[in-house]
Amino acid sequence: MASSTLICETQPWKDLKSHVEDIKKTHLRELLSDTDRCKSMMVDFDGITLDYSRQRATPGTMDKLYNLAETAHLKEKINRMFNGERINSTENRSVLHVALRAPRDAVMKSDGKNVVPDVWNVLDKIKDFSERVRNGSWVGATGKALTDVISVGIGGSFLGPLFVHTALQTDPEASKCATGRQLRFLANVDPIDVARNIAGLKPETTLVLVVSKTFTTAETMLNARTLRAWISKELGPSAVAKHMVAISTNLTLVEKFGIDPNNAFAFWDWVGGRYSVCSAVGVLPLSLQYGFTVVEKYVTSLKNLPVLLGILSVWNVSFFGYPASAILPYSQALEKFAPHIQQVSMESNGKGVSIDGKPLPFETGEIDFGEPGTNGQHSFYQLIHQGRVVPCDFIGIVKSQQPVYLEGEVVNNHDELMSNFFAQPDALAYGKTPEELLKENVLQHLVPHKTFSGNRPSLSLLLPSLDAYKIGQLLAIYEHRVAVQGFIWGINSFDQWGVELGKSLATQVRKQLHASRVKGESAEGFNFSTTTMLTKYLK
Ligand code: F6P
Repeated sequence: MASSTLICETQPWKDLKSHVEDIKKTHLRELLSDTDRCKSMMVDFDGITLDYSRQRATPGTMDKLYNLAETAHLKEKINRMFNGERINSTENRSVLHVALRAPRDAVMKSDGKNVVPDVWNVLDKIKDFSERVRNGSWVGATGKALTDVISVGIGGSFLGPLFVHTALQTDPEASKCATGRQLRFLANVDPIDVARNIAGLKPETTLVLVVSKTFTTAETMLNARTLRAWISKELGPSAVAKHMVAISTNLTLVEKFGIDPNNAFAFWDWVGGRYSVCSAVGVLPLSLQYGFTVVEKYVTSLKNLPVLLGILSVWNVSFFGYPASAILPYSQALEKFAPHIQQVSMESNGKGVSIDGKPLPFETGEIDFGEPGTNGQHSFYQLIHQGRVVPCDFIGIVKSQQPVYLEGEVVNNHDELMSNFFAQPDALAYGKTPEELLKENVLQHLVPHKTFSGNRPSLSLLLPSLDAYKIGQLLAIYEHRVAVQGFIWGINSFDQWGVELGKSLATQVRKQLHASRVKGESAEGFNFSTTTMLTKYLK
């Protein structure tokens, strides 16, 4: 395929377009009755089992999808990424977050320079610093140990670390290392989030991490100034040196803010914000909370499960036209997984042009959302069973982090949870026919309401347990799944120009609010609706 050709102009794409019409004629009920097909759609990968037999696909579909991936030069694109080429062409950057998981002796180059030693220098610095804070040799301005950490950051500087923290919190090994410590995240500029974060904390025992790749994000910088004032007011301005550290690529602005660059933890412009959880962005706050040894384990590697997940999603989005995708972990520990992947996926792949800037005649990206089961079942599952078709990823865990055994119950809590994990994919796939309902003596007038069309695709991932290593695996699988989708669609998954327009309009409004508050100026230069709303707000 020539580099200027759009993927939708290629023969494999066209073949899949006609193939999907054939597949639409076959109900999942029928596909699931073919045991050989089902066998071929179950994969074991580094302890994780993937079952994708409930996708509306046959082995023939998979061949066609692999053919499409080949035509899109997927392998070459992955290699170019791993080789540190500047594949993020609109920002002229390489995309090397994969180097954050590299072993110490690996070689991964950006612009001819091996970046792995830089990665490990920062990891060593984190290990040393977090150990000193945890063992009380780095103390606050009044000589007290710093037991509480507030990590200030938004988007990629927040969602990934929050997800891993939430997942580790109930892991017995990790949680025993966190005794007596607290880790909180301040993301929203909403003063309510500030109030919630400082509630019950004292500046003298609190360490604030300012996490921002650019160190210019308006919300993060205002929140950082607010917490700097909170510390200075109580302990004096010199206390900032002991109570605030930074994680950023912009060490000049870190220094300008008043944080000693020696107390800054670097990362690099080849790490996209939403792919930064394995850099200091995630490793520092989590090491302060759980100790470096626990956290080091979630920095792991990948094989080829992500390719499979990526091509299946292209199949669902581009050929069936399903716009959304649900991530449904049957584990409360994974409650922040969907919000994290939502950013990774939607900020990466929600694009309107090809990597060469050509408008795309097809939609890219998917609307990702999700909640842990079974909570989601009592919320939005009605829609996915009888309303719109939303391909689902079910994620289940064999061994709970926190098993409970109650005498006299039919099943324990975890088995109860997992009964639902196993039942839901079949409910979606098979549905329930009017004939089946009538056999059950359902009243005639209720039959249409109780009918389930089925034929709704899903896949299931079964993990043996949920420790730091497995959490890292899950993270890597979904990060790379997103990259694979983008490589096939032929877009740049690593820029995010779509967030800029709103930011620049907010600058204009911010100036107006300042002028109105300070000089009493009335709102000007906005359209009728914004002027009216602003005027009401300013009253
Ligand atoms: O929302 C846009 C964005 O640029 C994200 O990509 C990024 O993760 C987030 O803002 C925060 O950016 P920074 O880490 O530079 O403060």
